[in-house]
Amino acid sequence: MADVFELRINDDNHVMSPAELADALAWADVLCPTVTDSLTGELLSAPTVNAKLLANFGVGFNHIDMAAASRAGIAVTNTPGVLTDATAEIALTLMLISARRAGEGERLVRSGQWHGWHPTHMLSTQVTGKTLGIVGMGRIGLALAKQAHYGLGMSIVYSSRVERSEQELQGLPAKHCTLDELLAACDFVSLHCPSTPQTRHLINSDTLSKMKPTALLINTARGDVVNERDLIAALRQGVIAGAGLDVYEAEPKLSKGLSDLPNVVLLPHMGSGTTQTRVAMGECALANIRAFAENRPLPNQVS
Ligand code: DGY
Repeated sequence: MADVFELRINDDNHVMSPAELADALAWADVLCPTVTDSLTGELLSAPTVNAKLLANFGVGFNHIDMAAASRAGIAVTNTPGVLTDATAEIALTLMLISARRAGEGERLVRSGQWHGWHPTHMLSTQVTGKTLGIVGMGRIGLALAKQAHYGLGMSIVYSSRVERSEQELQGLPAKHCTLDELLAACDFVSLHCPSTPQTRHLINSDTLSKMKPTALLINTARGDVVNERDLIAALRQGVIAGAGLDVYEAEPKLSKGLSDLPNVVLLPHMGSGTTQTRVAMGECALANIRAFAENRPLPNQVS
């Protein structure tokens, strides 16, 4: 690409300020933003904007004001498909770590506080054979459902706007139900819906109170699908048993009190973070940029 474009790179991966983003939008024809680059309506509506393509490095694009991009005539592309399995793996990892108290166990061993095996030490919850509820049965939800069903014999229920056909489910036995039915029935609830005005704070004190007190909540989607304050209260009061989180409402900042809770596992937004997947995401973003440079239809245009 260096032979086609003059490049500027955020070499130290700092979170770019609004002023830096405004400058980039004014200077570049194409930006390759990530989830940390908040491309607001204000920035995208500025008269200085020159950019014509936002080739997002990632599948989620809730950090981009899509209406403002469209008004400004800026196309947006993403990188779907290539991060499905890696993200599903992190959701499964969080299910296993939270249910089996692996984070607590690891901390215990490292701290030198482990005094040996005994029959009631660190009792935890078995995952095999339990019921998993998938909220949002897109690519990642389906990949997790398959890993959990075929790998761990879990029963799968899911809620999503549309019921998936047998063909879409690729033979996986999974029952479509309402969110309320899912919350009441499941031992694990894993979130896989995009962040939209409709899904913002979908998980709140009301929906949390509909879950089983023994259930665990897993979030690898977007932080703002969960009202973090309500989740902290629910975890403190034993409304649910635990949570495994890879994403946060105001990441990388955590809501006050979250990291003090023993019944929550916290990961640093690493769902797609395998070398294989990040390279594939880069290639996907490049394919979109190359198509733009060659004036061809954009392979992964989302607006
Ligand atoms: C994605 O691709 O949406 C990941 O969460 C990183 O942005």
